[in-house]
Amino acid sequence: MRVLVTGGAGYIGSHTCVELLLAGYEVIVVDSLINSREESVRRIEEISGRKLEFHKVDLLDKSGLDRVFQQAKVDAVIHFAGLKAVGESVAIPLQYYKNNISGSLVLFEVMAQHGVRNLVFSSSATVYGDPASLPITEDFPIKSSNPYGWCKVMIEQILQDLYLADPSLNIALLRYFNPVGAHPTGRIGEDPKGVPNNLVPYISQVAVGKLPELKIFGNDYPTPDGTGVRDYIHIMDLASGHIKALEKLAANPGLVIYNLGTGKGYSVLEMVNAFAEASGKKIPYKIVERRPGDIASCYADPSKAEKDLFWKASRDIKAMCADTWRWQTKNPNGYE
Ligand code: NAD
Ligand code: UD1
Repeated sequence: MRVLVTGGAGYIGSHTCVELLLAGYEVIVVDSLINSREESVRRIEEISGRKLEFHKVDLLDKSGLDRVFQQAKVDAVIHFAGLKAVGESVAIPLQYYKNNISGSLVLFEVMAQHGVRNLVFSSSATVYGDPASLPITEDFPIKSSNPYGWCKVMIEQILQDLYLADPSLNIALLRYFNPVGAHPTGRIGEDPKGVPNNLVPYISQVAVGKLPELKIFGNDYPTPDGTGVRDYIHIMDLASGHIKALEKLAANPGLVIYNLGTGKGYSVLEMVNAFAEASGKKIPYKIVERRPGDIASCYADPSKAEKDLFWKASRDIKAMCADTWRWQTKNPNGYE
């Protein structure tokens, strides 16, 4: 089976490509490299011991994408490509809507023209906003408070409408909770440009001495220790969820939606302590104001994916921190 992976050079895409190749899929990556490097593609091949097809093409380039589909004989698409920084999306909304929405529209058009009916889409727990209760199930209402999140909500809606118009499509909307960690070899991992926005890459750069201290955004939330609680999921568990979703699509399920999380929430302070233990480093921190737009707690009810996909996250926060630390220490400057 031939799977075209948009954004396959990025963080989640690269780990998923390794799992796809190891599971015997043929992989075609389309990535503009706007937030990644071709070196990650080389390392995917190194880890998996297999070759993939790489095309440096922007999704907005319809004729370029069309050429890839003409050559590739694609059976299914996993669509990761998109810009993903929430704060940046508030500052430059047009670029986010153009890249993420228009890029997706071009992809869906080209898929339709080439008769490709199977799609896995990277959605996010961000579509649940501040949930009314916990844990979060897939039938909770969806909304957003920033352009990044609106892109996810809108693309989900576009896919629902495409499915209504053509029920022979098979579409999996995967709502990821907080992906962290790296491949256990330490050869691929998350390579944020500039100062990281997300917690675990930030802690990791503090531990290695690139940043002086972590700023904890608030300790007055209604949580056990007052810091924000999230459902961190190991990137390899997340990657294997995509293989399970592809297997599900092969059974012709129509449009399906799954939370990919562990179902367990950890606070910022718990993550800091787990990382200090895994790395043997002190993580200096100070408590600062809450970050605008942050919520107190967010964690999944992952039982639907467990029941339908036979998928369950198995790696704990110890593995998440140890694997992040291995990647950080082996690649202090990422792929550079
Ligand atoms: P990433 O930035 O590492 O990977 C995205 C990849 O898409 C990059 O390699 C980038 O170069 C590429 N890309 C972006 N726009 C493109 C375009 N127009 N044409 C071709 N390639 C393009 O991000 P990631 O963390 O791997 O996230 C992958 C997907 O998962 C994104 O859609 C993101 O919104 C979603 N997601 C991520 C998280 C997270 O915490 N990382 C959580 C929930 C959902
Ligand atoms: C963020 C995005 C969300 C996106 C998710 C995954 C925001 C507001 N939300 O979620 O839309 O889907 O990333 O990419 O950006 N924290 C600190 N100090 C830091 C960084 C984070 O204390 O330097 C805290 C946060 O307040 C939060 C927790 O750590 O409680 C996790 O933060 P982060 O990794 O940014 O993820 P989310 O906020 O869950």
